[in-house]
Amino acid sequence: MEIVITGAPDEIGDLVAGAIARVLQARPDPTLGLATGSSPLPVYRQLIDRHRRSEISFASATAFLLDEYVGLPSGDPQSYRRFIETELTDHVDLPPDRLHGPDTDRADLLEACRDYERLIRDAGGIDLQLLGIGSDGHIGFNEPTSSLASRTRLKTLTPTTRADNARFFGPDEEVPLHVITQGLGAILEAGHLVLIAMGAHKAEAVAAAVEGPLTAMCPASVLQLHPHATVVLDPDAAWRLRLADYYRQTYEHKPPWQVI
Ligand code: GLP
Repeated sequence: MEIVITGAPDEIGDLVAGAIARVLQARPDPTLGLATGSSPLPVYRQLIDRHRRSEISFASATAFLLDEYVGLPSGDPQSYRRFIETELTDHVDLPPDRLHGPDTDRADLLEACRDYERLIRDAGGIDLQLLGIGSDGHIGFNEPTSSLASRTRLKTLTPTTRADNARFFGPDEEVPLHVITQGLGAILEAGHLVLIAMGAHKAEAVAAAVEGPLTAMCPASVLQLHPHATVVLDPDAAWRLRLADYYRQTYEHKPPWQVI
């Protein structure tokens, strides 16, 4: 696992947008895994800027959402599909029919989960998967005690996650209880995992994920099993890491040809 401790959100955005740009440029039919939440926003801003400067194109790309709320009407502003459209895909040249998410409107949600995995497999898997981390260590919506081998499935959110995500909803709106999320085993199949965390409220979860034991109690610790996982942090999110100085030194002395 590579740990990169940077400064301002813009630096994080630039670094990760660079990795995505390389995927877009290197592959004929690139596939991206997109995450919601505030952590990836600096990346999406940089991608839009690079697209406006004609440096990158999404015309041959396919994008997959990591997760989606169950029970919101389609097009609801709080839905994760709408979030990704507003924050990224409405502003770049990704063909709208190549933005995919779990179909939470289906009567048979289990079938919707299986079909979503098939869609990802048929696209050749995901080249680069962006991830945030919940304050309880979840990735996607894999809450604590999620099997480290889990597949895409229906999950129930913890009270902590619902309280954390209430800030995106209006005062009279309820955060849904159920979601569909790619499972931890499914996430591990992506070529490159890039997890972003900012702020001291993430420091404990980050330390557990990076330096703690591999455990279903901290689902993000599953990154320890991936051969190409990058964790990009601001100093506040990194403050509980015991080996922070070592990670900084490693990054400073990284050979110029070695990119994240
Ligand atoms: C939600 C999403 C996660 C995201 C997390 C953290 O729970 N399902 O994918 O990582 O929020 O969000 P934020 O980056 O806003 O802290």
